[in-house]
Amino acid sequence: MILALETSCDETACALVADDGRVRANIVASQAELHARYGGVVPEIASRRHLELVAPVIREALDTAGLSLDDVDRVAVTQGPGLIGALLVGLQTAKAIAWSKGLPLVPVDHLHGHVASLFLEPEPLEPPFLCLLASGGHTMLLDVQEHARWEVLGSTLDDAAGEAFDKGARLLGLGYPGGAAIDKLARDGDAEAFSFPVARVGGLDFSFSGVKTSLLNAVRELGDEVDARRADLAASYQHAIVRALVERAEEAAARIGAERIAVVGGVAANSKLRASLPTAALAPLELCTDNAAMIGSAARYAQAVPSPRYLALDAYANAR
Ligand code: KG4
Ligand code: ZN
Repeated sequence: MILALETSCDETACALVADDGRVRANIVASQAELHARYGGVVPEIASRRHLELVAPVIREALDTAGLSLDDVDRVAVTQGPGLIGALLVGLQTAKAIAWSKGLPLVPVDHLHGHVASLFLEPEPLEPPFLCLLASGGHTMLLDVQEHARWEVLGSTLDDAAGEAFDKGARLLGLGYPGGAAIDKLARDGDAEAFSFPVARVGGLDFSFSGVKTSLLNAVRELGDEVDARRADLAASYQHAIVRALVERAEEAAARIGAERIAVVGGVAANSKLRASLPTAALAPLELCTDNAAMIGSAARYAQAVPSPRYLALDAYANAR
């Protein structure tokens, strides 16, 4: 039994995952409302809130699973990338639990976690496959060869896809976090109403900074009419981002001869993206955005560090 913690951004999460991939509990306390008034995550506030939430969230996960710390065999935790102060809360908590119970600790890379969201029961995906990882911090195409081994085929040169959704939502006055809000509003809009070109960069990379500027220009030109056209703007903007993601993912799959495309990360929750890739493997919605079940899943394929060596582990902010 693995007890997993995830605190890399603004979700405080704890899960209990069995070695066979069954999720016994998956508790996520989102801080989104706390950060909404600032229009984005404030790192210092996130760290402090993680401190307040982490113990109750762990308790709730254990209660949900009907387990106690005595049933846990190893502790898994996101080591990075993410907000350094936020990561440290999870890492220190994991060290404290592991140390007090004499358990090994498994440091997990957050991106491995997103990929591993596909390996959980009841429908675990088997590598190899082409994986599009699209979240608030990352946009990557991965040639996943084994459960813990992949090659990066392409990534974003500037904004991540989720970041583009969030910035677009802010321009449209939809607040933070914006991806889900655009998704919802776009259902009432015409995706062909506006043309927002997404730059096609070389190789299998992405660029999303230009599309945000086209939206800004459209909003400025519309002036007072923006209110009446908000749903059309959202639908067209979403269409542009989704088309870029789908085209590049299909191109990458063709290049490596992958039979299967999978999509993970917060943006994988987007309904238009899900509809545009009907044959793709998609993680269930609650496993797309940040959670600890995916960290527990990744821990099944990562190296455990024995006690007390893990006490020297540090968190890292940037992708390795
Ligand atoms: O994976 P995630 O929870 O956190 C990171 O690791 O970044 O992804 C969060 C991102 C945010 O940018 C959010 O706006 C986006 O995922 N997102 C969505 C949707 N739900 C969340 N983007 C588009 N459509 C959605 N339905
Ligand atoms: Zn994430």
